[in-house]
Amino acid sequence: MDDRAGYTIARGTADADRLARMSSVMATSTLRFLQGVGLRAGASCLDVGCRDGQVAIDMARLVGTAGRVVGVDADDGALDIARRAARDAGVHADFVHADPARDCLPFTDVDLAFSRLLLSHLVEPMAALRAMVSTVRPGGVVAVEDLFTPTLHAEPRVTALEDLAEVYSATVRFHGGDPTIGPRLGAHLGAAGLVDVHEETVENRMTTTSQKMFLAELLDNMHEAIASAGTATPDQVRSIRTAVATEAERADTVFVQARMHQVSARRPPR
Ligand SMILES: C[S@@+](CC[C@H](N)C(=O)[O-])C[C@H]1O[C@@H](n2cnc3c(N)ncnc32)[C@H](O)[C@@H]1O
Repeated sequence: MDDRAGYTIARGTADADRLARMSSVMATSTLRFLQGVGLRAGASCLDVGCRDGQVAIDMARLVGTAGRVVGVDADDGALDIARRAARDAGVHADFVHADPARDCLPFTDVDLAFSRLLLSHLVEPMAALRAMVSTVRPGGVVAVEDLFTPTLHAEPRVTALEDLAEVYSATVRFHGGDPTIGPRLGAHLGAAGLVDVHEETVENRMTTTSQKMFLAELLDNMHEAIASAGTATPDQVRSIRTAVATEAERADTVFVQARMHQVSARRPPR
């Protein structure tokens, strides 16, 4: 594999606070999506690229003791955080190390295989999608949620946020990902052999400083990837970060997360 390829954001505990803020921004729309595609009591579910387990824990609350939830990630530090968080939340979910882009996923007959903000980071998203498809029972659902980065913006306009979107996009692209994968997800699910493709888009709005700060913190946790990609100098990163954080403090500025494409499809029944 190209040695530029790889996840561009800090691993383990370094990115935990930012991800918790991001997850709180996305939780309502993600759960609505999942409940619409089969997340219910008794279901067996996978969250692929689960990171610190926020979605898997929400899933575990809903499937209850008659169901089963497994979170999968290649980051052992994140898996430890997820296990602790599930224990603290008093729910049962298993967290397993696997890289869906390289490994077979050791599950079969799952009702719902989900991933959020994973495919845009992968050099070969189709390999991961096929691995997800192989876990699902005939008639079961694969559901993915990912972004179209150029739509990240603020109301009223904050040009530093658009600069941040450009640096993020160029960095993810340099490392082999696709920060505009959202609108292509439906075609990818079809190419993976799934049927009944259904797509919706959502825009998650951030009104509190705490929510908005996850975007400034994103830059803090991408220094190495930005430096190796050469997509911005340290001075440029500092100046974008300062401007975004200043706007995040303002009560009259709303940040609008990049548009999320929520796409689901079914494995054909036997
Ligand atoms: C932006 S985070 C999203 C985390 C979580 N799905 C969410 O939405 O809160 C991307 C996740 O994908 C994982 N990831 C990236 N490349 C991966 C790979 N090749 N195999 C497994 N996980 C990977 C990272 O470790 C990270 O947990």
